[in-house]
Amino acid sequence: MKLLLDTANLEDIKYFNTYYPIVGVTTNPSILAHEGGDVLELLKNIRSIIGPDKELHVQVVETEYDRIIEEAHAIVKFLGKNTFVKIPATGVGLKVTSHLSDMGIGVTVTAVLSAGQALLAANAGAHYVAPYVSRLENLCDDGVGVISDIAEILSTGYSTEILAASFKTAKEVLDVALVGAHASTISASVLRNLLAHTTTDTSIAGFAADWKNAFGEHTLLELIKG
Ligand code: G3P
Repeated sequence: MKLLLDTANLEDIKYFNTYYPIVGVTTNPSILAHEGGDVLELLKNIRSIIGPDKELHVQVVETEYDRIIEEAHAIVKFLGKNTFVKIPATGVGLKVTSHLSDMGIGVTVTAVLSAGQALLAANAGAHYVAPYVSRLENLCDDGVGVISDIAEILSTGYSTEILAASFKTAKEVLDVALVGAHASTISASVLRNLLAHTTTDTSIAGFAADWKNAFGEHTLLELIKG
């Protein structure tokens, strides 16, 4: 399962893009609003940090068909290749998705809360569908079960991939990986929690202490190089 970073915070993007195996960054209007300032400069900076080969997902804010199409083309022209246009799962969104997919523009149908919405988005030609796992779980619904249903539907012959989104815990990320999500987009804090383990930290500290007790300040590299 591919991993993406769900933020527009430049410091977090720099850090995780340097050290973690992420394939891209996702944003939405709320995420961009959280950072504030010059939104065009922000998006350009994100593209500059991740480079031209990683995915950048940007959501439209227009609501009328013609304006969404115009906005989608402008977003892709502005941010270059490997930019995916996020289109909310609505009636007009499905029509936009069909048109943009026919034009060769990658569409992520977003704010997906049901397998039915994902089925429609896949038939409209979406590259990704983005189901909101935590927002479902938070309403006593089965977010992971919805991902599982979508994975089964898509396995019947669609090229559409699941980009699971809206995570509050690292456990949810593992759960959707186990039921067939193709990708997940994760906040910085949840991504940190995927790696964090106190026993890893104490193990590493133990290795360092044992080495120092036996070999002092020498490193293995120094000894090999002579
Ligand atoms: O990409 C946005 C989606 O992940 C929603 O996340 O945390 O606002 O439910 P959240």
